[in-house]
Amino acid sequence: MSQAVFHFPKGFLWGTATASHQVEGNNTNNNWWAWEQRPGRILRGDKSGLACDWWGGRWREDLNRAADSGQNAHRLSIEWSRVQPTPDRWDEAAIDRYREIARGLTERGLLPLVTLHHFTDPLWVVEQGSWENPNIVNLFANYVRKTVEALKGYVTYWVTINEPNALAAYAYALGVFPPGKRDLGLALNVMVNLARAHAAAYQTIHKLQPEARVSIALNVRPFLATKSWSPLDRLAAGLANGAFNDLFPRALTSGEMRVSGWRRSIPEAKNTLDYLGLNYYTRESIAFVPQASQAYVRLSIPPGLETSPNDMIANDPDGFSEVLNWARAFKLPILITENGIEDAEDGLRPRYLIEHLHRLWRAVNENYPIKGYFHWTLVDNFEWERGWTQRFGLWELDVASQARRKRPSADLYAEICRENGISSEMVEKYAPGLVEKIFPG
Ligand code: FCB
Repeated sequence: MSQAVFHFPKGFLWGTATASHQVEGNNTNNNWWAWEQRPGRILRGDKSGLACDWWGGRWREDLNRAADSGQNAHRLSIEWSRVQPTPDRWDEAAIDRYREIARGLTERGLLPLVTLHHFTDPLWVVEQGSWENPNIVNLFANYVRKTVEALKGYVTYWVTINEPNALAAYAYALGVFPPGKRDLGLALNVMVNLARAHAAAYQTIHKLQPEARVSIALNVRPFLATKSWSPLDRLAAGLANGAFNDLFPRALTSGEMRVSGWRRSIPEAKNTLDYLGLNYYTRESIAFVPQASQAYVRLSIPPGLETSPNDMIANDPDGFSEVLNWARAFKLPILITENGIEDAEDGLRPRYLIEHLHRLWRAVNENYPIKGYFHWTLVDNFEWERGWTQRFGLWELDVASQARRKRPSADLYAEICRENGISSEMVEKYAPGLVEKIFPG
């Protein structure tokens, strides 16, 4: 085999992504903490507890890990319930802490990408109906103004809302996130409020910081008809792709939200994406099943693919290429704001990482405007309704002792970041079975 390196363009962003509730610990004043106290909501009854103890100060050592392993960027989120614990109070000490963390990122040579809402709502917002209440638009914009004023000296890349599509689906249609509702009509109203809140945040940020780059992080998950010959499965796939994948980026570029026969004009949302933030994990198969409890469909992992230990994610790089191709049509710069796999033993992760980054490299070389990649995640963290059962970290976390242990993928990713590319030697070392596929001949 000849030696070769697939290089990425100079200045490509390499980082990991995290979220406040999943790493900070003791986020007692939000809807997730309350949800975790309710029996049956989280697998095994797990709780976020101290999480990765970032609020206790361990953000420093973890960001050292990120910087020492060649990363040059990091995505994290701000916890609304800390910044604004009650409707009429800003917590200046918490805001200072976030300023210190943002400064800590830049001091370590990590370009900050800051998410303003990553699934959690303050309890006082919940009392006012959260995303069901159109007034969330004003509440969110007010919090965004305060936070951006505080951090704009350090941050220019923003994500307003993480995965608005997943939030609407999980919390209001499938009922697995708080408030646990299952009502498709309600989910559509929530999507309108999410798009309007994003638009208001977009305007607010740009007023304070004209040079800001603002987007959402969209969860993109192509749906394939389980039985490709079945018109009903194909219909289900078409509807799911339209509602889950296309709806937000279309609404935030055109100002119109639509899915099948339903449409809503949201003029203020038009042209409110400066780039497209994409979270890609896997594709899914979808079948129409009249007796299924979840909206008449059954979801599964497409057959014939290697899957993660809990069968939640398939190693499906074709799906990633499909997503990049789909995203290109929006003619916006692209950031991969999340991609990764739950894999405590780190058996599949090296292959997943190499195969996905190889596809990313191919797209970059075909001149797709892709500017960076954020792996999910740096250290094992609290994975929502799946608790601690899923381990996405480059570093393993012993939750009780807070000890970290490096997985082989952390070294692989460090080599990729330092080289700004993937070399045949790396593939030989971390995933020898892939050499012929990635570097044939
Ligand atoms: C994404 C979420 C992130 C994490 C990963 C595994 O949908 O944005 O918080 O849970 O999945």
